[in-house]
Amino acid sequence: MPGMEFFGAEERKEIMDVLETGALFRYNHEEMRNGQWKARELEEEVEIFTGANYAHAVSSGSTAVAAALAAAGIGHGDEVIVPPFTYIAPIEAVLLAGALPVFAEIDENLCLSAEGIEKAVTKNTKAVLLVHMVGAAADMDAIMPVIEKHKLTLVEDGGQALGAFYKGKSVGLFGKTGAFSFDFFKITTAAEGGLFITNDEKAYKLADSFSDHGHDHIGINRGMEKHPIIGFNYRISELHAAVGLAQMRRIDMILKKNKENKAYMKEKLSQIPEITFRPMPEFGVHDIGGCNYWFTNMYHFVNQWGHLKNLKSAAPLAIHKLGAPQNYNKMELPKSQEVIGRLISLGIRATWTKEEMDKQADEMMNVIKRVLSKA
Ligand SMILES: Cc1ncc(COP(=O)(O)O)c(C=O)c1O
Repeated sequence: MPGMEFFGAEERKEIMDVLETGALFRYNHEEMRNGQWKARELEEEVEIFTGANYAHAVSSGSTAVAAALAAAGIGHGDEVIVPPFTYIAPIEAVLLAGALPVFAEIDENLCLSAEGIEKAVTKNTKAVLLVHMVGAAADMDAIMPVIEKHKLTLVEDGGQALGAFYKGKSVGLFGKTGAFSFDFFKITTAAEGGLFITNDEKAYKLADSFSDHGHDHIGINRGMEKHPIIGFNYRISELHAAVGLAQMRRIDMILKKNKENKAYMKEKLSQIPEITFRPMPEFGVHDIGGCNYWFTNMYHFVNQWGHLKNLKSAAPLAIHKLGAPQNYNKMELPKSQEVIGRLISLGIRATWTKEEMDKQADEMMNVIKRVLSKA
């Protein structure tokens, strides 16, 4: 969780820029903003960093996923292949879009596998919502041929993987649309915020309008703008964007430290031959803190989603009327169960000292050795 480790003068300066003008709203109000456009600047930084043609800042990673689905044309009744290991936000986004999640297998890489997707495809499958889990990319060389073969729409949730590149390409740019989270626990945080990215101009315009009540954002008079589509309020505020902007400007430094510390911990833990490490196509970042055993906690694995399996919601959703495409209470995902059953993940801190890392690694190794000696 490095972003929160680096809250300092830069973040305060960006926030003060906004507070001094009072222009807290990201659009319009040119006369009062003294040239300050924090959301726009954040978007430019993300475009440069990821190489995306377009980035659009929104209120959260969850709303970025909602925008990514909408802009990719995924909606009512569409079947979308999703992973059973993910923070639950993308599954909720599918359901709230009126679409129908179909769970498929992940593999050692902790993301949907090509094989898992292939097995889950039916004639009703419209899209794959690929979640790049815990800081690194899915196996794109294997996955893309399956997407192309079945003419599926690929939407990517890089909520936990800003900074993960696969063969030089940022996650989020392999499919139609992509999303990142800037919540408090991420590699760069805006307190709350999210980023939508795409290389597709039409998708960008749809996401831009979708996340602001359909506004086309043309001209300088908000009241006179046109509304090409129905949307909602998923806007980011200038205050949040200001924090995200300062953080985005630190991302190279954060990633560098994060990678160094990860390499150090990995080398230490490699002393135990029974420990295997996640295969990394091209290392991105590990941005979730603490030592997590996801199988039984942290709300990232399907086993903990009783409310979802029983489709409990505040009000009826499309899935209640259309019917679920899978029996969520009887899903056969043995590979995912096996992989997550033996997964422990360790959040890397960028500010760790060597002594702290030695202590952490030694404690972990002691526990692991004790467990192994009883096995
Ligand atoms: C993979 C993934 N997608 C989406 C989200 C949602 O992001 P946010 O908390 O900014 O809404 C998260 C949050 O942890 C996430 O891990």
